[in-house]
Amino acid sequence: MTSIPGDRTPNGNLSPVESIVVSKEERQVQLFRQLEVKLYVTTDDGSYGEKGFVTTVLERVLEQEKVDLVIAVGPVMMMKMTSLLTKKHGVPTLVSLNPIMVDGTGMCGCCRVSVNGQCKFTCVDGPIFDGHAVDLTSFCLVKGFTSKKKNAL
Ligand code: FES
Repeated sequence: MTSIPGDRTPNGNLSPVESIVVSKEERQVQLFRQLEVKLYVTTDDGSYGEKGFVTTVLERVLEQEKVDLVIAVGPVMMMKMTSLLTKKHGVPTLVSLNPIMVDGTGMCGCCRVSVNGQCKFTCVDGPIFDGHAVDLTSFCLVKGFTSKKKNAL
């Protein structure tokens, strides 16, 4: 989760950037440490950084600070839970979807996702979508199906 660097608040000031990173790879965390951002590191087992999920830290941040925008990139379940949490707090949220893509032209349909009840194609309409508008539950099911199918091959 991070806000867009250099974004301006409604009063014209540059907004502070905060990032919550979940990774057990020190190398990935180091990339974020090079940025001038307020950084939270968390792992689900506590082996590195704070023990907990992105939403554990995000909930605390949302309760303590005004957040203008949340961007969630990573596992679908994390993006889903993040979107549910930010919806509760009324914070706009963007998610980056990464379905299997075949033709990348909007013709094959394998990257389709429901957004506000309408069929969209991640390859041509995304990959960034409003996290509160995407049906991430259905997307989870499709991702789970394709992951199992890929593993079976
Ligand atoms: S990859 Fe085929 S429609 Fe998007």
